[in-house]
Amino acid sequence: MPKFQRHLFICTHEREPLDPKGSCMHRGSLELASSFKKKLYDQGFKRVVRANKAGCLDQCARGCAIVVYPDNVWYGGVTLDDVDEIIEEHIRHGRVVARLVIADEDLTGIDPNNPPQN
Ligand code: FES
Repeated sequence: MPKFQRHLFICTHEREPLDPKGSCMHRGSLELASSFKKKLYDQGFKRVVRANKAGCLDQCARGCAIVVYPDNVWYGGVTLDDVDEIIEEHIRHGRVVARLVIADEDLTGIDPNNPPQN
């Protein structure tokens, strides 16, 4: 079987409803993941591009978070209204949807090239 060309990891993490960090699941990420899976399949990307549900991507403050590999492009605040554009622009044509990108300097994860000192 050939390798997938891209993976979309869609955060579907859930926290308690009153948790101040919120969580992507409570912002509609399960529906988002289902929409990506269905539309990628319908548009012929089966076994080419894989949409996976993921745990917390540590971008919780930015709305539903997605990362696309191997491109290493992070999207935040993604809604159902953005699915078609991400598939058409990024997946089909390789053009990043700039308006949804979480800039590198805004990513809340730890930079592996500059880890915190103990
Ligand atoms: S809960 Fe989705 S990025 Fe943290």
